[in-house]
Formats: sequence, C-alpha cells, structure tokens
Amino acid sequence: MPARLVDVLLERKILVCVGSGGVGKTTTAASLALAAARRGKRTLVLTIDPARRLANSLGLEALGHQVQEVSRELVRANAPSQTGELHAMMLDQKAAFDEVVARHAKDPAAVQRILANPVYAQISGSLAGAQEYAAMAKLHDFDRAGTWDLIIVDTPPTSHALDFLDAPRKLSEAIDSPAIEWFRKLQGEGGSRWSVVGKSGTFILKRLAKFVGSKFIDDLGVFFTEFNDILGGFRKRAEETFSLLREARVGFVLVASPEPMAINEAMAFHQRLVEASMPFVGFVVNKVHPSHPIATPTPAAIEAALAADPSVLALGLSGTTRTMAAHALLAAHSELEILASADQQAIARLRATDERAMIVQVPLLRDDVHDVTRLVGLERYLLA
Ligand SMILES: Nc1ncnc2c1ncn2[C@@H]1O[C@H](COP(=O)(O)OP(=O)(O)OP(=O)(O)O)[C@@H](O)[C@H]1O
Ligand SMILES: [Mg+2]
Repeated sequence: MPARLVDVLLERKILVCVGSGGVGKTTTAASLALAAARRGKRTLVLTIDPARRLANSLGLEALGHQVQEVSRELVRANAPSQTGELHAMMLDQKAAFDEVVARHAKDPAAVQRILANPVYAQISGSLAGAQEYAAMAKLHDFDRAGTWDLIIVDTPPTSHALDFLDAPRKLSEAIDSPAIEWFRKLQGEGGSRWSVVGKSGTFILKRLAKFVGSKFIDDLGVFFTEFNDILGGFRKRAEETFSLLREARVGFVLVASPEPMAINEAMAFHQRLVEASMPFVGFVVNKVHPSHPIATPTPAAIEAALAADPSVLALGLSGTTRTMAAHALLAAHSELEILASADQQAIARLRATDERAMIVQVPLLRDDVHDVTRLVGLERYLLA
C-alpha cells in the first residue's frame, strides 16, 4: 500500500473520493486533481454539484455538462512542473443518465421517444442509484477514451457512503420491482394491451386512469416497453464498471470528518472494499479541530502574554479587563482542546480498523475552500 497520497497521484489512473454528505469529497477531489496537474499530469476531475464559488474559481460556472480546461496560468503558478493540465467537468447527472439511455436504446427514434416521455422525466430523477450509476458510466467512457493520465471522481451526496457501491444493484432492483414488472407487462408481446394484465389488472388500470388520466397510463405502458429494451445494456455496463473499479490502477480515497457517524461510514465502506477486493488507498479525515497546547495554561501566564503584545497594548485596556480577557481566552482554548482531543479519539478508531492504512488529516480551516489558492493550500496536508 502506498504511504503518501502524492505517490498515489503519480501511480494510479483513477481515484474515487467517497464519503458521507458534506465531509469534503468535492473539495478533496478538486484539490488532489489540482495537485496532480501541478506535478505534470494531464488530469480530469469529474465533479458533482460543487459549491458555486468553487465552480467559479475553476472557471466552470457557465459550463454545465462539458469538459473544460482550467486556466493553465492558474494551475501552473509556482507549480513543481509546467507541463500538467487540469480539465474539469461539472457532471449533470440527469444529462449523464440521458446519455446512458441514448447509448442503449435500439435506434435514435427510440431515444427521442424515451427522453420525451413524461414518465421518464419523472423516474430518471428519482430511481434509486440512478445518479451514482450515471456518474460511473461517465467515468467508464472517459477511461476508455484514454485521454487522461489521471481521472479523479467526486461522488454524489448520499445519506450513506455505501449507497455508492450499491447503486447498480439498487437500480436493477428498482427496475425489476413487482410494480414496474406489472406495468411492463401492459404491452405484452404483440397482444392487446390490456390482455396480459388480466381481468383484475384491467379493472385496477381503469380505476387508476380515472385519477391520473388515461394518457398517463399510456405513457407508462409505452415507457416501460421501450425501457425494457435498454435494461440489458444497463446491466452489462454496470457489471463492466464494477469490474473497472476493482482494477489495481484504481484507488478509493475514503473521506470522512471526525464526527462519529462519518467515521462509522468510512469504516463500513473500508470493510466493503476489503470484502470486494477493491483497491483502497487511504482515509482523508477532513475538518479536524487542530490542537494548540499552551506551555503554561494559567490565567497569569495568559495575562502576561497579553501585556507583552503590542497590539493588545495599543487597545489601552485596564488591568481588570486584561484579567477578564485572560480567563475568557483560557476557557475558550480549553473547549477547543476538548474538541481536538475528541477528534483524535475518532481518528484512533479508524486506525484500529486497519493499522497499516494511510490516514491523512486536514484541519478545519477558518474559511471555506472556494478558490484555487485555498485548494493549493490543502496540498500541504493532503500530500504530507
Ligand atoms: N478543511 C476544511 N475547512 C473548512 N471548510 C472546509 C474544509 N473542507 C471543506 N470545507 C467546506 O465545507 C463545505 C463542504 O465541502 P464539500 O462540498 O467538499 O463536501 P462534500 O462532501 O462534497 O459535500 P456533498 O456531500 O454535499 O457533496 C464546502 O463549503 C467547503 O468549502
Ligand atoms: Mg460534493
């Protein structure tokens, strides 16, 4: 197992950043991609729903679902290498799902019919696993194109990190659910539309049509017949992508914050990777409260430090005010130290799951990480 993320960037071809909601997947993916580009790699980052200011700062704001190169000047400023490139794509998951459909439909007319079907519009946004599936399908395409030295993939916000690995199965299950199967039978092989569902089915459909309109029922039937044709392609692609993710040139970076839930999910995900023989590279624990121990943590020592500080002196505070400030500072500091120590205990739990695992810590910073300078600033922690 590599010891540092910088080696991972130079060795692997695909990195997938996974973790629970809000822990810093997008930030980590962007920062690692930038770091690789600055070390001479032709890099692509597939990012999902980045904070607007981050998208702006990468020049992606007006872009949508297309690959765009991030300004070379920005990427190469003070960089160790002047040959790398950073390309980025803000993945529109609906568009990516449409592309998958287009790929597997039997002809262009069928593509048009499916995409224009109101049932499709409803269902493609809400099918379990559809978003993750679409993101992975896109990765699969880019990997096949062979244009990049390294592709870094951000993953969608999910309530549970494991949803990501379960996406293809969930999508299959959703499509194969009894309710959907029933509708699919509506337009059975050549026969009359209502015959296959039998008497009680026809009755239910008629009742249903009263509420939702018979056009909707028609749309539904047409949709499932058309959709049925592309399912085989879907499943095959899911299997191919799954096996791609097990190759040794891929690496999973598990991002967590020190919160117990996020750590639990990172541990569960790690377990799943091990079970599935998938290539784990390390944990990134982001937003860690830093510890700044004070040599002599007494009010007197703090007060003496305040008295010696020219900027405090300039305030012209009275002795009593300085004493009160010293007590308040000490109390605030000890609370921060408690948070820092809780975070280290959480990280120790991670370490206990895998003694040899790489664990990278990134401190909780004062500001959001929304521009290139700050992304580069994260390098010193991520690559340490
Ligand atoms: N180390 C840090 N210190 C302070 N703020 C941070 C740090 N890392 C990330 N952030 C900020 O936290 C917010 C969430 O980060 P990010 O969007 O990367 O998380 P995410 O895991 O991709 O979230 P989602 O699950 O919603 O996609 C952003 O505003 C980001 O700038
Ligand atoms: Mg994100």
